[in-house]
Amino acid sequence: MDNTFTLDTAKMPRHIAIIMDGNGRWAKQKGLLRAFGHESGVKSVRETVEACAKLKIGFLTLYAFSTENWNRPKLEVDALMSILMNSLKKELPTMQKNNIKLNTIGNANMLPDRARKQLFEVIAQTKENTGMVLTLALSYGSREELVAAVKQICEQVNTNTLNIADINEEVINNHLYTHNMPDADLVIRTSGEQRISNFLLWQAAYAELYFTDILWPDFREKDLHQAIFSYQKRERRFGKTSEQLK
Ligand code: IPE
Ligand code: IPE
Ligand code: MG
Repeated sequence: MDNTFTLDTAKMPRHIAIIMDGNGRWAKQKGLLRAFGHESGVKSVRETVEACAKLKIGFLTLYAFSTENWNRPKLEVDALMSILMNSLKKELPTMQKNNIKLNTIGNANMLPDRARKQLFEVIAQTKENTGMVLTLALSYGSREELVAAVKQICEQVNTNTLNIADINEEVINNHLYTHNMPDADLVIRTSGEQRISNFLLWQAAYAELYFTDILWPDFREKDLHQAIFSYQKRERRFGKTSEQLK
């Protein structure tokens, strides 16, 4: 297969979101512990982040740990948290070099203290960067995010700072973790699974979905290009007819 794709710079997705899946199976295939799969996935993260920055993608969101992932064996959760901490520290120079601004969505209070400190340290150090916004979804679940938003909105109604009649899509959007981000244009999931797994349920309402059998540790720049190429060939109709778009 031809591995070169000529991408149309005028039709780049503004916001790419990736469900990085398949680390465990990748390790198992090689007779290694699952943690090695997660460790190897870091290389794919680095390559994807740099490739997106190079393509001048505005927003890249990576699903790194879901609210449901807390139910995994403690050994694996601990391994994931320490890989997260170490990579944040290690990748800081790459982020600075590429003018990347780090951001996070999810319930950061759930993270171990050291991981949370490291995360907010890197966020602080990159906050003046003006290039791509890289968002790590950590302890993130879309349903939890929506529950939190509903609570905040009810609180405003209770204290008479908001009328029920004024609740609209914008109000809800403003109470999500993603309030300062545009909707996802392209959602990529690796490893062959074709499900959303509680990721950006609201924000991906009109996203183009792209599934690939490649396991996350094997995902490379050319695979990203292939996903974007597929995205660019699609017609996003947003409910209209094809003729209306002409
Ligand atoms: C994705 O890989 C990483 C996380 C969910 C943290 P998995 O660990 O889910 O890998 P598989 O799906 O078991 O292969
Ligand atoms: C989704 O992957 C979460 C992340 C990639 C962080 P999972 O592997 O946890 O998803 P399910 O549970 O198999 O759908
Ligand atoms: Mg998985």
